Amino acid sequence: MQTLTILCLVACSALISGQQHLPVVPSSSIQYTSDPGLCNVNRDYIREYRSATYDFCLFSYRPVAVRSNFNFVYSPISIWMMLAAIAEGADPLTQQNLFQLLHLPPHDPCLRYAFYQIATSRALPSKEVNIRNNRILLINEGTTLNPTWHDIVVKNSLLDVVTAPIKYNSVATANEIKKIMSARLPTLSLSGNSVLLDTIDYNGLWTTAFADAVIERAPFYSPQGEVLGSVDMMRVRRRARMGYIKSIHAKILELAVGADERYRMLFSVIIGNPDIKPVVAAVTSATVFEMIDSLRESAVPIDVAIPRMVISSEVDVRVILEDIGVTDIFTDPSTTRYISDPPAFPSSFLQRATLVLNNTGLYAPPQEPEIYNAPTGLELVVGRDFIADRPFLFGLFDAETYTCIMAAAYTSPSL
Ligand SMILES: *[C@@H]1O[C@H](CO)[C@@H](O)[C@H](O)[C@H]1NC(C)=O
Repeated sequence: MQTLTILCLVACSALISGQQHLPVVPSSSIQYTSDPGLCNVNRDYIREYRSATYDFCLFSYRPVAVRSNFNFVYSPISIWMMLAAIAEGADPLTQQNLFQLLHLPPHDPCLRYAFYQIATSRALPSKEVNIRNNRILLINEGTTLNPTWHDIVVKNSLLDVVTAPIKYNSVATANEIKKIMSARLPTLSLSGNSVLLDTIDYNGLWTTAFADAVIERAPFYSPQGEVLGSVDMMRVRRRARMGYIKSIHAKILELAVGADERYRMLFSVIIGNPDIKPVVAAVTSATVFEMIDSLRESAVPIDVAIPRMVISSEVDVRVILEDIGVTDIFTDPSTTRYISDPPAFPSSFLQRATLVLNNTGLYAPPQEPEIYNAPTGLELVVGRDFIADRPFLFGLFDAETYTCIMAAAYTSPSL
């Protein structure tokens, strides 16, 4: 019975939080309106917000990539939001360090809340795009939350607080957490007073479908050209947005998702030497801006091939954060004493991300006349195709702000 109650609490909270992220922001006019008197709304803070979140994305990307052997999917923006929630209630020194890591202005709550409003309104489920992000602080029953902190995280939709009998029924609590997150979770620890749980699921329809008649098994190669295994290759011949990132000698393909092209999936392969590992270390937030600015629609159809897949990762976010120097909140209870009494003192921070790449889309690819060797209108170096038959990086962005909602790398086909 108790087990059921916990399950219901967490599951219900998951459902509610999925629906809470619905402050629909009209495109081209994102403004923080709840207290405009405090905010300098003329400032172009969307670019600042993007720099801040790209920096955190790239900062966390490296340890996530290395620890998963470069085959993973995760949501940097979701971790960013949960850490922001912790930062809002952290002791002054920890708060200063966290705000610095997240590039949040320590003395400008209004601008922070404006950033939160953008971040929390990116993943909006619709009929064509099923995307769910749930961010939960699961805290021991009987803990008293600091109402000021709770008010900030609830008003800004940063996370949901749910209680569970962590201290007096850790077995039941652990079992229920496992059901919600996944079957495994080898790293779950309930030694503290709370755990941070983050899930994100994506399955969306492309704006333009892949040609479903031509999915076939095809080899997938290592950087050295050996066959690593085979994949179900989705193919389409269509005009597409492509770009070239000079600094890492990579080509980029952008495919739109959903009826209003609300989301964009960006794929990247390195031209020539396709080993992505050294490249990951070279990327900066400037590279991301460069990448997005370089995209152009091809003048003629090009060949696109992407493996069909379901990719899922469980990331031990605590370990990733420790890699990048965030340790106090997990080791020193006093750092989270302004979140609750007794202190929230989280012992685990876990994220499970699942992303489906399927051939289905809203519209059939338009029939285009075959004009062989006609100029593509793209930089010559990108060639006339985008064939992801070797290690590639990809990510899900929203079209309005180009927030990186999910980031992934695919290097080894599951056999
Ligand atoms: C992929 O799409 C096919 C229809 O083309 C559908 O039958 C299948 O269930 C989808 N797979 C996933 C994982 O969504």
